[in-house]
Amino acid sequence: MIPTSISTAISYPNAKPHLGHALEFVQADFLARYYRLQGSEVFFQTGLDEHGQKIYRTAAEAGMEPHAFVEQQQHLFRGLLEALNIKPDRFIRTTDTDHREMSQAMWKKCFDAGDIYKKTYRAWYNVKEEEFLASADDVKDSSTFGVDMKFIELIEEENYFFRLSKYYDKLVNVLESKAYEVVPSNRSHEVLNFIKGGLQDVSISRQKDKLPWGIPVPGDDSQVMYVWFDALTNYLTGTATLNGDTIVPNQFWPYSLHCVGKDIARFHAVMWPAMLLSAGLELPHQLLVHGFILSDGRKMSKSIGNVVDPHEAISVAGTDATRWYLLAEIPTLDDGDFTLERLRAVYASDLANDFGNVVSRVVAMCKKYCEGGVPQVASEQVENLEKTLISEAWQQYHAHIMERQIDKALEVVKGMVVFCNRRIEEQKPWAMAKEVSRKAELEELLYELIEMIRHVSVMLLPAMPNTIEHLHSTVFSGIPDEVCHSVEWGKTPPGLKLPEEGIILFPRLES
Ligand code: MSP
Repeated sequence: MIPTSISTAISYPNAKPHLGHALEFVQADFLARYYRLQGSEVFFQTGLDEHGQKIYRTAAEAGMEPHAFVEQQQHLFRGLLEALNIKPDRFIRTTDTDHREMSQAMWKKCFDAGDIYKKTYRAWYNVKEEEFLASADDVKDSSTFGVDMKFIELIEEENYFFRLSKYYDKLVNVLESKAYEVVPSNRSHEVLNFIKGGLQDVSISRQKDKLPWGIPVPGDDSQVMYVWFDALTNYLTGTATLNGDTIVPNQFWPYSLHCVGKDIARFHAVMWPAMLLSAGLELPHQLLVHGFILSDGRKMSKSIGNVVDPHEAISVAGTDATRWYLLAEIPTLDDGDFTLERLRAVYASDLANDFGNVVSRVVAMCKKYCEGGVPQVASEQVENLEKTLISEAWQQYHAHIMERQIDKALEVVKGMVVFCNRRIEEQKPWAMAKEVSRKAELEELLYELIEMIRHVSVMLLPAMPNTIEHLHSTVFSGIPDEVCHSVEWGKTPPGLKLPEEGIILFPRLES
């Protein structure tokens, strides 16, 4: 089995998770489920970024110790994952002991490579983004772009620095050659342009007397690691062990795919590979950079007051419809809009009217016209049906997923559902049923439709697992999973008994 490793960014648990977090979780979960269905051995990691000034400050404002604060906050993120039906193989917290040890081992590797040195430093820092600002212009920009200036502070202290500048050539090379591929290509160009503008060494520690909340720097009690050095190492913690100070990666290293938002692409495309090059570790294969969730065209933000709580979306339309919206309605590689009204509209059209309706109609017609089950068509008839259309649809579906355009892959599925509904309208099986001479034609049509529904359902499995598992355990019950999940045409057994009850996958929403 091919090992495949997929991660999301680790979230700051300073506030409750919002729909942007949900988007990233669902995208990564879709890909993890997709690769599992392809037969890969998948490792899927997500978790929390619990150190740094932002958490330290938020905990203090809540009158809590940072430890107790993150302990309380973690449940909000675990709760959201559960509500979205996501079960990561590892939910990492950067306060975990193995992570502290891995970060220290990583530090030592970079130090031994001669890439860490100490110097006195004076710079502006954005606490909200946990990011140093390169110049006075950046400070001005922050205020112009509406960053609350209470988050911008001047830091003057002795820090450790990482020799990022040393990796200029190698970084340009790995990104240009796509040895480490940034998707989509416009994000890759942005990162390359940034690098080509010149790389400065970066501060990777803070004085402990000013910020005590972090992982201690090995061999220097007066310093803790800069939160990003510690955070990026989380990917290694999940996929490697330590033998003394030696980092021993497992079969999931190097990472197949890191899924992150556009605001943190640079950390992942510049700092992270440079750290790995310094430590002599292999680079990940791919960085998927998704866009942002907007609400009515504007970034969701607490200050604008347009934040949608993912639990609210789930309570309105359910887990799978929320997952569907995030995957199919938001372009995977671009920004997209979310409103509860639109969620309801998409539920009614794509899910209830199109997909749900075709399933209940086809199952009902098979039962009515074909002795309560899947039509008894002969195997040579099965061969002649919509085989080509289906195999083309599968090719397009896979190709879009390879391009990391999940929305486009689901567009293909929507097209198949529309095709099935149109075929019913055009062919009018109820009219065929009135003429005995058209029995064979009717059976072929209904077999074709139910087999297409099976294919559609397999394509939808990574997007809406609960709904599809329900469909499989009712309509296709008794077929072993490997047959039911087969992408070959004609695997639905002719004569299969269908459930007595009507099938309603998407009941009408309460208004
Ligand atoms: N802790 C860092 C990541 C460290 S990874 C080594 C961080 N945390 S975050 O909580 O601010 O963001 C977590 C993820 O959510 C990021 O990938 C970020 O881009 C994503 N999103 C945050 N707001 C978002 C939207 N409004 N829309 C979509 N995703 C966004 O950054």
